Amino acid sequence: MQELTSKRLVLKKLSENDATETYAKWLNDPAINRFLETRHAQHSIETCRSFIDACNADTGCFLYGIFVNHGQTHIGNIKLGPIDQLYSVGQIGLFIGEKSHWGAGYAAEAIAEITRFAFAELNLARLEAGCYEDNLGSLRAFLKSGFAVEGFLRKKYTIDGKRTGCFLLGALKDEWTGNHH
Ligand SMILES: CC(C)(COP(=O)(O)OP(=O)(O)OC[C@H]1O[C@@H](n2cnc3c(N)ncnc32)[C@H](O)[C@@H]1OP(=O)(O)O)[C@@H](O)C(=O)NCCC(=O)NCCS
Repeated sequence: MQELTSKRLVLKKLSENDATETYAKWLNDPAINRFLETRHAQHSIETCRSFIDACNADTGCFLYGIFVNHGQTHIGNIKLGPIDQLYSVGQIGLFIGEKSHWGAGYAAEAIAEITRFAFAELNLARLEAGCYEDNLGSLRAFLKSGFAVEGFLRKKYTIDGKRTGCFLLGALKDEWTGNHH
C-alpha cells in the first residue's frame, strides 16, 4: 500500500526524494535519537537514501513517512518490519522528528493506523515493539494504540554510560478492536 490515511495524517511510502537534510538532521539530533539505535551512527542524505532503498527492496518492510498538513509536511517516520512471514508477526518502530509536533497525539495516531493496516490488510497475527524504560511518550503512545506491555528487559541497554531497561510491547489481531486512539 503506497499511502495510508488517518484523521490528521497521511502515511506515505518513502522514496529517495524524501531523503532530505532535514530528515538526516532529525536522526543526528540527541534530543530525538536519545532512545533510538540510530544514535550510534552519523546520518546524511546518502545514509537516509540507502535506508529507504533497502526497506523498499525488502518485501517484509513497509517504511512510511508521517505527513501532516494534508500530506504536505514530513514530520517523522513509522516502519512496519521486519515481518516474519512464517509466523505472521511484524515489528513497529517510529519517531516524530519535528519536536514542535510532539505531544499532539501524532505518534499514537500513526501507530493505530499502521496497526489497522497490519491486521486488516496484511492479516498479520501479532505486532511487537520495544521502548526504553524512560521513553514515557513512546510507551504511552503504544498503550493508547492498543498495545500491552508483555515484558521488561532489565538493564538491557546503556544511555550515557548508565544501564537502562526496555519494555516489550505486543498487540494481537484477535484482540484488535480498532477503537483505539
Ligand atoms: C516518543 C514519541 C514517538 C512520542 O510521539 P508524540 O507524537 O509526541 O506522542 P503522542 O502525542 O501520541 O503522545 C502519546 C501520549 O504520551 C504522552 N507523552 C508524549 N511525550 C511524553 C513525554 N516525553 N513524557 C511523558 N508523556 C509523554 C502524551 O501526553 C500522550 O498521552 P495522553 O494521550 O495521555 O496525553 C516522540 O516523542 C519521538 O519521536 N521521540 C523521539 C524518538 C523516539 O523516542 N521514538 C520511539 C522509539 S520506541
